[in-house]
Amino acid sequence: MPIDLKNVSFSYNTGTKLEKKALENVSMSIGRGEFVLIGGEIGSGKSTLIRHFNGLLKPTSGQVIVEGMQAHNRQVKTKVGILFQFPQNQLFSKTVYEDVAFGPSNIGIKDEELEKRVIKALDMAGVREELHKTSPFNLSGGEMRLAAIAGVLAMKPDYLVLDEPLSGLDPENQKSLILKLKKLHQEGISIIIVSHRISELLSFADRIFLMENGKITFDGRTEEYVNSLPSTLPQIAALMRELRLKGIDVRDDIFTVEDAFDEIIRVQKERMRQDS
Ligand SMILES: Nc1ncnc2c1ncn2[C@@H]1O[C@H](COP(=O)(O)OP(=O)(O)O)[C@@H](O)[C@H]1O
Ligand SMILES: [Mg+2]
Repeated sequence: MPIDLKNVSFSYNTGTKLEKKALENVSMSIGRGEFVLIGGEIGSGKSTLIRHFNGLLKPTSGQVIVEGMQAHNRQVKTKVGILFQFPQNQLFSKTVYEDVAFGPSNIGIKDEELEKRVIKALDMAGVREELHKTSPFNLSGGEMRLAAIAGVLAMKPDYLVLDEPLSGLDPENQKSLILKLKKLHQEGISIIIVSHRISELLSFADRIFLMENGKITFDGRTEEYVNSLPSTLPQIAALMRELRLKGIDVRDDIFTVEDAFDEIIRVQKERMRQDS
């Protein structure tokens, strides 16, 4: 069952001089098993939007229904796990292990079952064993993000929502995080990634939403999105198109440096094979 938003509007500081409309009449539906990107400029309302998915914020008007329940229902909190932009704000215990155990022990899980859950979550997130007993604040930025992901996974969410998960990571950690998310998706968790730069992520997602000024301005499949914006085609896709025009037979549905690299190597090998 999906996350369904019906005509959701939200304002910060309603009824004061500082009132700020951050979402305006948003309707959207995200199904189980999808890999979704939510893009849009900084300030367009992305972070405000995802805080509605598990009831952290309540709409000023409209409805959020998750798996048939109102989003502020307690059960929804475990179904929809959110990883915030700054993982250091999500970590607070003495050790990484205790941090990951915090959520499940709060819902009454203990002893062996708790240990099993925590170890599994740390493993799924890819937190190395030697880090389990260290302080989360001794971790690097990339490791901290993985520890925070483990904390969310320990609640066994159906949906994993990540707010700007690539920011602050070097390219290598970005790549390894994306591959990890792809793997979690294959294991059946729906992935929702919020990013103000979606071009690197396009080849992983089934579906794209774009936000502008608190409204959804695009909702469609990735191919549709790429086709709809020829002028702002990601540079890498433009490069592949250029190569095709020069008679080099590369695929043109490539949006990331990594895929372009693999594809160019493939074509080159093919040519060498034909030459020999
Ligand atoms: N706590 C808050 N109080 C008042 N205004 C806020 C608050 N958080 C965000 N806003 C405003 O709401 C709008 C949407 O912000 P946000 O959802 O954070 O956008 P994004 O995540 O796309 O950068 C922006 O204009 C922002 O300034
Ligand atoms: Mg944000």
